[in-house]
Amino acid sequence: MTDDLRRRALDALITARDRTAGLTTCVDENELIAQHSPLMSPLVWDLAHIGNQEEQWLLRTVGGREALRPEIDSVYDAFEHPRALRPTLPLLAPSEARTYASDVRGRVLDILERTPLEGTDPLTDSGFAFGMIAQHEQQHDETMLITHQLRKGPAALSAPEPPAGGMQGLAEEILVPGGPFTMGTSTEPWALDNERPAHRRDVPAFHLDTAPVTCGAYIAFIEDGGYDDPRWWAAEGWDQIRRHDIGAPLFWRREAGQWLRRRFGVTEPVPADEPVLHVSWYEADAYARWAGRRLPTEAEWEKAARHDQEADRSRRFPWGDADPTPAQANLGQRHLRPATAGSYPEGESPLGIRQLIGDVWEWTSSDFLPYPGFAAFPYREYSEVFFGSAHKVLRGGSFAVDKVACRGTFRNWDLPVRRQIFSGFRTARDAAGHEDVS
Ligand code: AVJ
Ligand code: FE
Repeated sequence: MTDDLRRRALDALITARDRTAGLTTCVDENELIAQHSPLMSPLVWDLAHIGNQEEQWLLRTVGGREALRPEIDSVYDAFEHPRALRPTLPLLAPSEARTYASDVRGRVLDILERTPLEGTDPLTDSGFAFGMIAQHEQQHDETMLITHQLRKGPAALSAPEPPAGGMQGLAEEILVPGGPFTMGTSTEPWALDNERPAHRRDVPAFHLDTAPVTCGAYIAFIEDGGYDDPRWWAAEGWDQIRRHDIGAPLFWRREAGQWLRRRFGVTEPVPADEPVLHVSWYEADAYARWAGRRLPTEAEWEKAARHDQEADRSRRFPWGDADPTPAQANLGQRHLRPATAGSYPEGESPLGIRQLIGDVWEWTSSDFLPYPGFAAFPYREYSEVFFGSAHKVLRGGSFAVDKVACRGTFRNWDLPVRRQIFSGFRTARDAAGHEDVS
């Protein structure tokens, strides 16, 4: 058991570092230092921040070792310095940042060997802190991929196309029967504090889209004048699109009657049957209202993704409890785009809902709030300081995030104006009372 946990932790740390290396060696030094967008840090900040978090939690706290570079803690503290100002900090140069991160890692591998992974310390029990730091690095790997998407200039990254699939033979929406289910987890060993604890939630019957909303469907909203009609928009969303003259998803433009998009340095026609990406919560919310529908709540999303009605039990993933395979979900930057809507039959939920895990983060209607019985762990700044009505919850993970940082209970959050993230959505509607079979 302990050996298995140790191997999982080691694998997760190595996988994350390989990805970090790939994202920070495919561009030259100037591009690592540059700020490609005021929304993002320079890539070299992410790189040393990854090392610094690992130093603080695994080397100092778990390992009890002396600090390697305490003088840089403040430079890499995300709360002290907003992203827009990070280029002005005394950052480690790219070669120094690489050496620092690998010095920390070398010591951490030794600590991983020596640390008992079962016991009464919640920080190390089940290897939690190692899993937390692997997830942290993978989250920054997604952040760095967003920076790559915002970067101007020729392509620096490439990847094979996702497997072909589609909606042939599938219903547009699926009924999720009403009744209680278990939301969140108290047993998932590497679940982060905001996913805990498990608790019962009653969710009335509703219909949910079988797959995420496609670019083609979204174009119908645009071409029906969706961005010119305040009826569809929340007030702040209407303000944002008017102020910034927004009329389409980020990275899209219309040329000679055709919708084009820029994706990792390449301009291409917008694929009609691919899930739409780079929309804000306001855009998702407006589309849903235009379509006579609404965004699902976070509880609805999780019930659709996890609830096995026959056993009245919540699964780790739509397909069961086993970790994702490449046949089940588009995760881990294996592909640099979502798969066609309706793909991944092997990843479908018990009710037949597709692509809940991977492809695109899905906006929900819910504010980011603590579950009943929430306790911040191991630090308030991971989740607790973000709770409230300012942030909306996204679920399910995107093609850009690794499986270690994505599961049926995983909660992401962002401001409703954000659209540089790999965000899409699916829509829902209430079901009539007689369809409630609970
Ligand atoms: C959970 C993705 C919102 O990137 O702000 C990274 C993850 N927290 N370092 C973020 C995170 C600290 C977080 N999100
Ligand atoms: Fe971080």
